[in-house]
Amino acid sequence: MPLMLLGYLSGSWLGALIVCRLAGVRDPRQEGSGNPGFSNVLRLHGRRLALATLLLDTVKGMPVLWLALVLGMPPWAQGVVGLAVLLGHSYPLWSRFRGGKAVASAFGVMVVLTPWVALCCALLWILLAWRVGTAAVASLASAGLAPLASIWLAPDYVGVVLAFTALVLVRHLLNIRRLQKGDEPSLR
Ligand code: G3P
Repeated sequence: MPLMLLGYLSGSWLGALIVCRLAGVRDPRQEGSGNPGFSNVLRLHGRRLALATLLLDTVKGMPVLWLALVLGMPPWAQGVVGLAVLLGHSYPLWSRFRGGKAVASAFGVMVVLTPWVALCCALLWILLAWRVGTAAVASLASAGLAPLASIWLAPDYVGVVLAFTALVLVRHLLNIRRLQKGDEPSLR
């Protein structure tokens, strides 16, 4: 329970808000897709701030996950701590519960818990973002790949990875609607 709370609180720090505030640029929740995450910061403020956002959102959950590993928690409990990080990112306490889509934070959690799955998802994300040019397509496909890859690469974590995927899908409902209408913004 304390680690879950710690996970939720760590996830609640939104990289995009920290980076944009420090750089003195506009809050990404007020423009573009309104998402405080890598893709929207990239479209609004360029590569440098987007990469800083990605880095912060990726690493913020790692210390608490390492603690869960060191304490010898079983995979399902590690997964619950990871899910708490993602929930913190999506429904952050100190941003009136208006958070992001949990892609980078899920990646960071998986780097610790299921590194090979994280690597496969990252490669697919990069490939699709490059070929298709739409972040949401890359994120949704990677979220779909994660539980499938876990069956082979991290069988003890399939259940928790499915929960991560479910959250990422729910957070992309607007993107899915925009993709259906053909007006999802491109990364290019
Ligand atoms: O990682 C978030 C991405 O999948 C979608 O973000 O800003 O294009 O809605 P955005």
